[in-house]
Amino acid sequence: MLLIWIYLFSIFHLCTFVDSVVQCEQKNVTVQVPDLLLPSITTTESLATWFYWKQGTQLNTNTIVHLTIHGYTYDHTYWAFPYQSPKYSYVDYVIENSNGSIVVVNIDRIGIGLSSKPDAIDVTVDSNANVISQLTTYIHNGAYKDIQFTNIILVSHSLGTLIAWTVASQTSYNQYIRGIIATGWLHVPNPVGTAAVVASIYPAQLDPVTSQQSVPPLYVTTNPANNTRQNIFYNINDADPNVIQLDEQTKHTGTVGELATLGLAILPTVTLSIPSNIPVLVVMGQYDIIFCAPLALSCDTSLIIKLRESSSYLSTIDTFVLLNSGHDINLHLNAQYWYEKALNWTLQHF
Ligand SMILES: *[C@@H]1O[C@H](CO)[C@@H](O)[C@H](O)[C@H]1NC(C)=O
Ligand SMILES: *[C@@H]1O[C@H](CO)[C@@H](O)[C@H](O)[C@H]1NC(C)=O
Ligand SMILES: *[C@@H]1O[C@H](CO)[C@@H](O)[C@H](O)[C@H]1NC(C)=O
Ligand SMILES: *[C@@H]1O[C@H](CO)[C@@H](O)[C@H](O)[C@H]1NC(C)=O
Repeated sequence: MLLIWIYLFSIFHLCTFVDSVVQCEQKNVTVQVPDLLLPSITTTESLATWFYWKQGTQLNTNTIVHLTIHGYTYDHTYWAFPYQSPKYSYVDYVIENSNGSIVVVNIDRIGIGLSSKPDAIDVTVDSNANVISQLTTYIHNGAYKDIQFTNIILVSHSLGTLIAWTVASQTSYNQYIRGIIATGWLHVPNPVGTAAVVASIYPAQLDPVTSQQSVPPLYVTTNPANNTRQNIFYNINDADPNVIQLDEQTKHTGTVGELATLGLAILPTVTLSIPSNIPVLVVMGQYDIIFCAPLALSCDTSLIIKLRESSSYLSTIDTFVLLNSGHDINLHLNAQYWYEKALNWTLQHF
């Protein structure tokens, strides 16, 4: 058994697209996905991961790991967007500016891209969290570079943030979690924005892009009619039209299982179960129409976000607003400003 384990983890590819400073290895790890109705029954699936570090640095168990979790209908490229690289790359920013003190593990969530695609009803918020928890155990046990990393921070966007909350809130999942950088999700959504998101969802098989990704039934994506992704994910006054176009061409899927389970995962009881020794940074785009609207649902300042969210956490949270940005804070013109905040916050706390 041990030999098989070592064999599995010795297989990796060097990524082809990296520059000389940012090094990367692609590796698939084996995870168990529980059956929705009979959780004791699991299927064995593959999770695609990318490990990034700064060339020439000495990694050790205290080196901080940012484990990045993308949102609904995206893949790992949300964290390293393939346009005017490295301008829209959180990964590159953090590696290049942290002097070797931070590495990044990026993933395609279960059901997405190069990861395997279980039945749609089994891909829920909870099974996503279960898989992330298994990955943190691998990271802690030396799956990358044989180093047993102890400082794992979840860095999440949108549905990824809901998954990160679930991981951090459950004692069976959060053993190796030391912090959360939670972007693109709050406890109270804007009904107008969420209605627009729901209205845009249609079967992935009907879509010119995702029908090429051989996804099972009940996988869905956003309908390109009426410029959906532009309208729900961007503030066009702060975005490059080429980015929005490439976003449409590189979009991915979500499942009905995820949609059906997010209503319970958003409750404050979830975040109120996050242990107070796990610090949280909340980051939002000022004009994220899924969660923000003038007056009552304003996202204009970090103080307003703090007032909106504080009662949902045991500990004091830190908050940050990326001015002018829409929902996809990584893909707006001023994205680097929030990357800097994430770096500052990490180095202050760890
Ligand atoms: C991981 O799995 C994907 C999808 O099957 C495959 O394309 C890739 O080559 C695999 N990577 C490694 C390192 O085996
Ligand atoms: C960067 O890391 C190296 C090696 O750990 C250290 O000697 C150097 O002082 C660090 N530089 C800065 C600016 O922190
Ligand atoms: C696009 O807009 C038209 C007109 O408002 C509407 O009838 C249609 O349902 C919309 N399609 C989608 C996919 O949102
Ligand atoms: C990050 O820290 C530096 C140095 O203290 C500071 O100049 C900068 O304004 C900070 N950036 C953000 C986005 O908070």
